[in-house]
Amino acid sequence: MVRPNPLRAPEDRRLPRIAGPCGMVLFGVTGDLSRKKVMPAIYDLANRGLLPPGFSLTGFARRDWADQDFADIVHDSVKQHARTEFREETWKQLAEGFRFVQGDFDDDVAFDNLRRTIEELDRDRGTDGNHAFYLAIPPAFFGVVARQLKEHGLAEPQGDAWRRVVIEKPFGHDLESARELSADLATAFPSDTIFRIDHYLGKETVQNILAMRFANEMFEPLWNSNFVDHVQITMAEDGGIEGRAGYYDGIGAARDVIQNHLLQLMALVAMEEPKSFDALDLRTEKQKLLASVSLPRRLDLTTARGQYAEGWSGGRKVRGFHDEDGVRATSRTETFAAVTLHVDNRRWAGVPFYLRTGKRLGRRVTEVAVVFKRAPHQPFSATSVEELTHNAIVIRVQPDEGVTIRFGSKVPGAGMEIRDVNMDFVYGGSFTESSPEAYERLILDVLLGDPPLFPRHEEVELSWKILDPVLEFWERKGRPDPYPSGTWGPESADKMLARDGRTWRRP
Ligand code: BG6
Repeated sequence: MVRPNPLRAPEDRRLPRIAGPCGMVLFGVTGDLSRKKVMPAIYDLANRGLLPPGFSLTGFARRDWADQDFADIVHDSVKQHARTEFREETWKQLAEGFRFVQGDFDDDVAFDNLRRTIEELDRDRGTDGNHAFYLAIPPAFFGVVARQLKEHGLAEPQGDAWRRVVIEKPFGHDLESARELSADLATAFPSDTIFRIDHYLGKETVQNILAMRFANEMFEPLWNSNFVDHVQITMAEDGGIEGRAGYYDGIGAARDVIQNHLLQLMALVAMEEPKSFDALDLRTEKQKLLASVSLPRRLDLTTARGQYAEGWSGGRKVRGFHDEDGVRATSRTETFAAVTLHVDNRRWAGVPFYLRTGKRLGRRVTEVAVVFKRAPHQPFSATSVEELTHNAIVIRVQPDEGVTIRFGSKVPGAGMEIRDVNMDFVYGGSFTESSPEAYERLILDVLLGDPPLFPRHEEVELSWKILDPVLEFWERKGRPDPYPSGTWGPESADKMLARDGRTWRRP
């Protein structure tokens, strides 16, 4: 019997997906996010021919700039960070659509100017009333900007046109604040016009989790508690907070990436097969999974957190978190976090999911390792299998994007000695196409109004529900455990797994 293919989308995805007439307004043009990610991605999309010829980018900021000053900023950002080569033709056409509006977020005159600018663009460049508002600004300002957009008639489209708003995490710092934030936005934008970016979902390797699981027959039969011993999801960074103390101190590793990227990864790895990859079906399965996640009772034994101390990274001496510029001397913010999670359903009963993330760890790597049980019977002598560990499927999200399958194999020779070997799929070896940046994919999806890769508010709430008790528990506990920079986190993280008779992978 041929099963329906959940990878097939309603429209044929083989046709190039090109955005129709539209523009984007970027709030927060001077921030890192805009300069390092959003502006280069817009250029790359233009260079790939995926933006409409009249595409317009309007910057909104307090600076006293003319359109040309804004264009210069975008130019620098593109030169430094774009993925594709710089082509004068692409640049010239794109730059014709640059506008700048000066003002504060509470400045009515500025928002009137913005409306006028947009109307002019509709008239002169054929943007047809279709506009996305990208709020690359601290979440504390989402509410006021959304209100201003509504009050100045910018949030509501006329006729067939569309208006969308794009926001980035942190979506609150706990469940309650996430709800408030969402309520603020909802006063101006209906829920289906709010696009929440979790850039991990824009990564090719993360989308490939769906392809791997649901387009093949060989993985899914094993993907359950009969065969899987445990799952490890690691997002390790060798860098420190890189001058972002203002954002990071007080937020910490769990809020920064477990609440969003790692729980989204877990949802994709553990959810049931969606009926299709339409937004509703996909998000419903992720949501069901997140609703089934529970914490063990003893958080003192099943979680760990740490703070980097001085040490070595990439061959140079680096300072500890407390000595980073802008970090409070008394800061108890964790730069390493690990949690054990369970999924209360038949598929995963008894299989722990270990999630960990940290700054200033041994190397930069994000991976999902599905670690299998041992074969129930080994007809070999104990010495033959001494070097055999557990079979594993490792999805390498980054770098060295690909998938490794680890299994035991006989070492050539007269005796029977069995050792782990790896079978590797490497993107570069199998595909000639290079992977687009996550932001290219996600910005294009916003302009196309294609929502499956954007978590909806319910997922955000469920993620906070999972994490809030851990954060409250840590809050009561005092300082995180120090770990030297360049190592794999505090001892407490190793103990957390050792207690279950397991060890962390050293990727
Ligand atoms: C961001 C976090 O979401 O992801 C950063 O706020 C982190 O702290 C970054 O450094 C890592 O992203 P990537 O794509 O480089 O793994």
